[in-house]
Amino acid sequence: MGRIPQRFIDDLLTRIDIVQVIGSYVPLKKSGSRHVACCPFHSENTPSFTVSPDKQFYHCFGCGAHGTVLSFLLEYEHLDFIDAVEHLAETVGLEVPREGGEIRAERHDDLYGILEDAARLYKQALRENKHAIKYLKDRGLSGKIARDYGLGYAPAGWRHLINCFNKSKLDVLTRAGLIKQNDQGQSLARFRNRIMFPIRDRRGRVIGFGGRVLDDSLPKYLNSPDTALFHKGESLYGLFELRMAQGKPQRVLLVEGYMDVLALAQNGIDFALATLGTATTRQHLEQIFRLTHEVVFCFDGDRAGREAGWRALQQLLPVFRDGLEARFMFLPESDDPDSMIRREGKEAFLTHVMSATPLADFLFTRLTEGLDMGDAASRARLSELAKPLLLALPEGVFKDLMYTEIAKRVGTSVKTLASPKKDDSIHRASNLRLKTHSPVRMAIAILLHEPELAQQMPPADLSALNLSGVALLIDILETLRCNPHLNSASLLERYRDTAHHQHLLQLMTWQPPGKDFDLRGEFQHAILSLNKKAMEQRADMLLKKGRNEILSPNERRELQDILRRKLGRIQLSTQKNDNSVL
Ligand code: CTP
Ligand code: MN
Repeated sequence: MGRIPQRFIDDLLTRIDIVQVIGSYVPLKKSGSRHVACCPFHSENTPSFTVSPDKQFYHCFGCGAHGTVLSFLLEYEHLDFIDAVEHLAETVGLEVPREGGEIRAERHDDLYGILEDAARLYKQALRENKHAIKYLKDRGLSGKIARDYGLGYAPAGWRHLINCFNKSKLDVLTRAGLIKQNDQGQSLARFRNRIMFPIRDRRGRVIGFGGRVLDDSLPKYLNSPDTALFHKGESLYGLFELRMAQGKPQRVLLVEGYMDVLALAQNGIDFALATLGTATTRQHLEQIFRLTHEVVFCFDGDRAGREAGWRALQQLLPVFRDGLEARFMFLPESDDPDSMIRREGKEAFLTHVMSATPLADFLFTRLTEGLDMGDAASRARLSELAKPLLLALPEGVFKDLMYTEIAKRVGTSVKTLASPKKDDSIHRASNLRLKTHSPVRMAIAILLHEPELAQQMPPADLSALNLSGVALLIDILETLRCNPHLNSASLLERYRDTAHHQHLLQLMTWQPPGKDFDLRGEFQHAILSLNKKAMEQRADMLLKKGRNEILSPNERRELQDILRRKLGRIQLSTQKNDNSVL
């Protein structure tokens, strides 16, 4: 589907009132020009969560959570961006348009529609097929679970699905992955004589299917091929059903099989999801962490299971920010969650879940496998093995603790371990920069606070200015000049998918230091001082150039002009031959 046009998001954000939206989740109290509440993102007794109607922005002084109304829905409701936009649009009765027009959107509607129809036909076929019903019964599944998960049955005939639909649907059936063409160009149903598991997206729309044979024939499972809607390596089985049952679960148990999810749900463990026969991917994990803060991976206890666990750990590290938890559960040989919960029951199974190995333990155990920690060479090897893993972690307390722990085990200092040291100093420097308000940062912060000020920009040419952040400032000024209607939030949203977003979020939390802080004056002052700096740099450059070559008449005029205006306090005394160029 095409992107949502930026103009629509601009427009939407000027119609929506953040106070109203957040107020529907959190009891807000008016306090001065802002609204306050106890923060919904961390637990506290005195309110430090503030919502500013002027900026259409929220900020918690306690935990640092902040963002626009869209960020709030992403964080609090765990919606994804598109869902959040659609949700907001609904509240003001707007239809979300897509770039590229309706044709593409319509085609996807076709896909959703046909998949829904297919799911219904499969369900009906299940009701009519004794063998299929018996198979599910024999596997211990209840009617309720079959209903909740929309289980169905694909009849044995090659043309079942095709005969159920009008000929004109052949194309969309193919694009939905439901039929395929054989070498003779005949259309055949992809799924035949299989128990059908509809795979639904977060919003409950069917996007694909898994199908299991009823006997020992092969392949045991068949999945929809990747389509415009279905991507096997990103999809999780049971996501919608879990959200229906649980809303926001305490944790997610990630298992390997469809039948595992069903057996667990039937036995009271309604927080399990399954990958679809692929290894765990970053996308899987990102979806899980939108839903909850803790994941428990469940793998077979054999060698393959341990390797799968280790690969999952490596996918996990880059997204494992502070506040998240991950544990690894390895089942006894020849068990899967399905067989285990049926044998041992809910309580015993939960005990296994709760005593699963924490990420850090799994990591240390794995790294020190076969190493003799009494031996210096082995300890050096540990440090080599650990380094790339630790580097993959996002900055935070967990990362620091891991460094400390590995350093302790290796018998070295964190400093030695944490090479390359360059990374560290870059990190520290950027933290420092964040705190000092350079004119560039000041100008951006003020613009985020009051975007209209861009229309009162004093004449200045910053394009040649060599200072960090200038390109962003110029970009913001340009954006506001072309889109004078943008408010703080819609300006910020324009940068959501860019490298600047985090940085701008930080600056958005800036507040004028006092009531009589002159925003307009300070903005103009910042711009003028940057303009002056730009001219100084330009004059410097021309002076240096003039020492080696003859400046063009234009360059000479420009230099004289700058010096005459005395905007730059250029130290002529240090530049001996400079007079010659004048
Ligand atoms: N799988 C697959 N294709 C196969 C076998 C397995 O896509 N030929 C995927 C399915 O998503 C399956 C998961 O891998 O659910 C786990 O496989 P397995 O453990 O063999 O199946 P179970 O879910 O345990 O199914 P059952 O209990 O019915 O044998
Ligand atoms: Mn199984």
